[in-house]
Amino acid sequence: MPSTRTAAIQIRGLSKTFGATRALSNVSMEVAPGSIHALIGLNGSGKSTLVKVLSGFYAADEGDVSMGEVVFVHQDLGLLPSLTVLENFSIGRPMAMRRGQIDRRAEEERARAALAEFGLEHTVRQQISSLTQAQCAIIAIARALDRSASGDVAALVLDEPTSALPSHEIEMLAAAMRTYADRGIGIVFITHRLQEVVDLADTLTVLRNGQLVYSGPTEGTSIPGMVEMMVGDAPTRVEAEWTPPVRTGEPVLEARAIVSDTLDRLDLSVYSGEILGVFGMTGSGLETLGSVLSGREAAAGGTVQLDGSPLVANSPRVQTIGYVPSDRPRRGVLPGLSVRENISIRSLKGTLSRGQISRRKEVALAQRWAEDLRIKPSDASVPILTLSGGNQQKAILARWLAVDPRAIVAEEPTQGIDVWAKTEILHRLRGAAENGAAVLLTAVEPEEILDFCDRVVVLRKGRVVLDEQRSDLTITDILSAMH
Ligand SMILES: Nc1ncnc2c1ncn2[C@@H]1O[C@H](COP(=O)(O)OP(=O)(O)OP(=O)(O)O)[C@@H](O)[C@H]1O
Ligand SMILES: [Mg+2]
Repeated sequence: MPSTRTAAIQIRGLSKTFGATRALSNVSMEVAPGSIHALIGLNGSGKSTLVKVLSGFYAADEGDVSMGEVVFVHQDLGLLPSLTVLENFSIGRPMAMRRGQIDRRAEEERARAALAEFGLEHTVRQQISSLTQAQCAIIAIARALDRSASGDVAALVLDEPTSALPSHEIEMLAAAMRTYADRGIGIVFITHRLQEVVDLADTLTVLRNGQLVYSGPTEGTSIPGMVEMMVGDAPTRVEAEWTPPVRTGEPVLEARAIVSDTLDRLDLSVYSGEILGVFGMTGSGLETLGSVLSGREAAAGGTVQLDGSPLVANSPRVQTIGYVPSDRPRRGVLPGLSVRENISIRSLKGTLSRGQISRRKEVALAQRWAEDLRIKPSDASVPILTLSGGNQQKAILARWLAVDPRAIVAEEPTQGIDVWAKTEILHRLRGAAENGAAVLLTAVEPEEILDFCDRVVVLRKGRVVLDEQRSDLTITDILSAMH
């Protein structure tokens, strides 16, 4: 119980303001040794800011924190993509030395041992950029856990460790979390998947608009109760009845015998007006499907057809296909630019006025989308990197919705998105489909988006193993096809 032992982390009256945004206001919470503590709240509610104050990245305006040694894994994972897994392990901590030189063998052994717990020891010499998002997440956590091996670490703090992970990998990570908690380490994890809170956490803290709403045992709370605490009296949305869209004519996007390192002569079509959900486990080919079908990456074999004619990868025509990559921090966000520029970058035609980019139109367009998708803060002139993770994701989606694309390929569209914004985003994608776009969504977790799909395809070993209308399917059918 928290009161009988010294807390692993004790936070009192923490406040942090960024300009006009009150990211945290007077937040107090305590993390007990050995407990698994979930931190939840809508996008922009202050979760990452809290973690960054704990890690010393931001100084608090007010309040105090007392804690032992704490290890962090941030939302962007902090891995260097051009380096190998081993280099990422070794960097930033003292390395094993032998006769005045770095002992590479000892370093490799140590990294292998840390990764073996997750079955990823074979990746040590691979470059981070060649790995899947799920593998990267696990590596970042394994690296943090490796650093906690000193034994005197009081807490491990994970900012959305599971948002990119498929369920079987979540279980692996959950087991590791429990192991570390049993050793007396307090674990804080941020998540948008409320079922995980129920399954994993003994303690729960809820933030809303930077304010503490609840901090106490998970027992006695429920998922609807959590949603209510997070959302407060914000307006909710009514779900529309699903009617299957009428499929007309030829496919908008078509994969013909696509071959890549993970795709094996894949055939797939997406039609105007439909939302196709493609599911598969890590390694099923799902990771490359989106970038190949959207023309962002050339396949080793086969062709992609757009409106009946071959699409050349990276040609100007690919810009008529919206692409929201799963790896948004690296491939989606334009980091040096404002929210406005991130949204309007593909809509410059629409902002032309007498052959010139009309700044006024550009501002209006971006501002309208920021408000429509309830991007927070709604002032689109701020740098994109000052937005919370979920709000950056909304901006990238807005970029493509704004151009009225022929097709949209969105990987993991709900990753890092709170329950409320999730519905909003999926409704927008539905709107795009109703305007005639072909929409393809990929996800490792079918539960999240199944209800929004018209048709479902499951990939396994680079091939389509299931292709059916959603109404004929249960989640069990999909999961068993995936495995
Ligand atoms: N460096 C910064 N400059 C300005 N505003 C910031 C900065 N960092 C965060 N904010 C603002 O503080 C608020 C809280 O952001 P934070 O990143 O903590 O949210 P979050 O709860 O982690 O959300 P998400 O679930 O989307 O990751 C947001 O309104 C965000 O725009
Ligand atoms: Mg965050």
